[in-house]
Amino acid sequence: MASVVPRPISLSALGGEPVVLSEAVTISSPPELEREARWFGRLLEEGAGRRVSFRPGGERADISLSTGLPVPALSVEGAYRLRAADGAVEVVGDSSGGVFYGLQSLRQLLPPASFRRARLAQLPLLAIDPVEIEDRPRFSWRGVHLDVSRHFMPKAFLLKLVDLAALHKLNVFHLHLTDDQGWRVPVTKYPRLTEVGAWRRESSAGHLLEGRFDGTPHGGFYSPEDLAEVVCYAAERHVSVLPEVDVPGHTVAAIAAYPELGAGGEVEVLTRWGISEHVLNLDEATVQFCRDVVDEVAALFPGEYFHLGGDECPTAEWAGSQRAAEIMAENGFSDLRQLQGWFTAQMAEHLAGLGRRLVGWDEILEGGAPPGSVVMSWRGEDGGIAAAAAGHDVVMAPQEWLYFDWPYSTGPEEPLAIWGCTPLEKVYGYEPVSPRIPEASRHHVLGAQCQLWTEYVSSAEHAEYLYFPRLCAFAEAVWSPASGRSFGEFTARLPAHLERLEALGVNYRPLAGPTPGQARIWLDPRQTGGQGR
Ligand code: ACM
Repeated sequence: MASVVPRPISLSALGGEPVVLSEAVTISSPPELEREARWFGRLLEEGAGRRVSFRPGGERADISLSTGLPVPALSVEGAYRLRAADGAVEVVGDSSGGVFYGLQSLRQLLPPASFRRARLAQLPLLAIDPVEIEDRPRFSWRGVHLDVSRHFMPKAFLLKLVDLAALHKLNVFHLHLTDDQGWRVPVTKYPRLTEVGAWRRESSAGHLLEGRFDGTPHGGFYSPEDLAEVVCYAAERHVSVLPEVDVPGHTVAAIAAYPELGAGGEVEVLTRWGISEHVLNLDEATVQFCRDVVDEVAALFPGEYFHLGGDECPTAEWAGSQRAAEIMAENGFSDLRQLQGWFTAQMAEHLAGLGRRLVGWDEILEGGAPPGSVVMSWRGEDGGIAAAAAGHDVVMAPQEWLYFDWPYSTGPEEPLAIWGCTPLEKVYGYEPVSPRIPEASRHHVLGAQCQLWTEYVSSAEHAEYLYFPRLCAFAEAVWSPASGRSFGEFTARLPAHLERLEALGVNYRPLAGPTPGQARIWLDPRQTGGQGR
């Protein structure tokens, strides 16, 4: 039986002869599906050495694409039906996205070797056992997050991760672009954000608690062209890129570039991990700076949502600030936390003017989250549950299940990690709709998201190790039906899927754990004090 990940609603073997894709393959599609047809055609050309030609919609072809699939009311967009029988493949979707997901499943019916890029020889046989798949996503927000602030990640890795997210039918790529340790997105009005804020003198070495440093500068930032390429590449794969500019805490890199944004005095881009006391001040000029930054960054990322961070913002500096005292008095605030609510409300209003919705980490609830804002619940599920009760849309991202910077196991062979433990089985078992959310509020759960923070992750290989295969398990939690999920059944399907990842050059973690010495190949020796692991 074919191993499709994430598991479809139904996959039924049909009788008859296999469908063979010979050396020349035809794909027919109406004009609105041309992008999907060309994307799949390229895969067949590059991965299997086929000659692909395209036909207008409705014409008989080896692979026919169409839309118009009827779907149940209120279902999430992305449904498809795939039928491979009687010498041909038909993929019909409820939308172009549905057809794209159908093609991702079709790809998984082909031999793993066809996932390899730029092969020289033609794959001898592409034979698909007759099958019918009916499928649609469970949630509309199926997210993957990457922190590019703590360690800058090359554009090529962002593109690879988008491809891998799309293979698993995920549709949101959350880029954490700014933090204390590095600012990675250019803003023409404030050039020092990248001239100064993108570079740090050195980084924590080993575990934060050891208090060691590596003595090696680190930095980098994306050009507008890089980001446009990532956005466009993602859009072709039905993935939208969610930018995050983390304010008003986690802003030391910005304050290092423009000290007037802080409480006064010079700071440098943070070299150690952890939370800083230095946060944005609440002067009108600083709030205007944030609006200006949002304007420029939003212009680079066309999606509906804009993530403004809001996590872990200490209020000690505000306690000593004249402007903060004035805002407290003007608004009758009794608690410094309300200042963050005040700040977030201003930003939400500005974003609304740009036609965007604010997304924030669950701390934004503490000062009263603005109506219409989306809450990303990371400190467990309580924030998400409270947010749904208050009428906010919610994305579940609880660290205990979905933080992939946590190690897979507590075994000594795992590479250095922050703390915690999120084994594959725990990720697989995550249920985004907590039974603690009343029935009437459950529609507020848009979906869930896995997170990769990169304090301890300085290479693409290490990131891949932490994502895979946990991301495969996560994909089933957000795509596949809740009923009938079984970790045993998933792990029986997984080895065939890992062969695909192997062919794609993904440095996944073997199911039995890291092979001796595996981590030494790609762990940055600076992070382990030169000892490797
Ligand atoms: C977070 O992990 N500070 C969102």
